[in-house]
Amino acid sequence: MKKYTQINDIKNLQELIKEAILLKMNPYEYAHLGKHKTLVMLFFNASLRTRLSTEKAARNLGMNVSILNVNDAWNIEFEDGGIMNTNSTEHIKEAAKVISQYADVIAVRAFPSLTDKAKDQSEYVLRSFEKYATVPIINMESATAHPLQALTDAITISELADKPRPKVVLSWAPHPKALPQAVANSFVEMMQMMEVDFSITHPEGYELDEAITKNTPINHKQTEALKDADFVYVKNWSNFKDYGKILNQDPNWMMTEAKLGKAKFMHCLPVRRNVVVEDAVLDGDNSLVIKQANNRTFAAQVVLKHILEGL
Ligand code: CP
Repeated sequence: MKKYTQINDIKNLQELIKEAILLKMNPYEYAHLGKHKTLVMLFFNASLRTRLSTEKAARNLGMNVSILNVNDAWNIEFEDGGIMNTNSTEHIKEAAKVISQYADVIAVRAFPSLTDKAKDQSEYVLRSFEKYATVPIINMESATAHPLQALTDAITISELADKPRPKVVLSWAPHPKALPQAVANSFVEMMQMMEVDFSITHPEGYELDEAITKNTPINHKQTEALKDADFVYVKNWSNFKDYGKILNQDPNWMMTEAKLGKAKFMHCLPVRRNVVVEDAVLDGDNSLVIKQANNRTFAAQVVLKHILEGL
């Protein structure tokens, strides 16, 4: 593996999932692989799980880890050819090349603005690192994608499915803040690659990018969509068409025990209790959120392992 910035960087998903599950059983088997190798993690935005699980994954492989909250460093300019006489102090061209001298792998988290659709869709932060860095890049959640989370979710469903083709539903939920589409986008792409009966339910007007959803069935009636589901993945995203806007906060879309039935509940976390999902679901036996968060380590570890093997 030369990089992991998008789901399509995975060559053989089933093999990768199997390997992640084996790593979970024996996390230090490849502790020699990362000796004298450094992972530099760059955070333009906050994180709990991604930061700690990716660091743990790297250390399980014997890597050194450096973490930079980019907002504590010099302001980086991404525009080409601009006159840097305002807020930006250094250009991505220098920054990426300099960081590449300290790193064997660079991981980047950079969320969208949710105000400039074209700029967000261009993935200019992630693409600039890919362009100017001289080492492999890992996406720790970008403007439009969260491929490490999606690999985690695929591992979790594979581990816990009790039938060959489980029914998986992605259900939109209300939220008081405008959130990115990244987690939902990557989950959709991942489910399209898996042997699952997959559909999406959301209020009318909350369609994700059609280039991502493609032919995935969409049902605007949540209760109907959830019938006989084995796994229900709940996530808010702000409006994609009326970009970044909150057009619906209907509490009837919150996930409840009654709606979930016997299905397993999934969420990437962090989650707002009694807004996105009621307490009874998160505190109940059908919630997988803590197991999911644990699998973040092994998703990151299997990706890092493949990248280290390719260096
Ligand atoms: N799910 C996830 O990416 O969590 P963090 O934002 O805490 O990293």
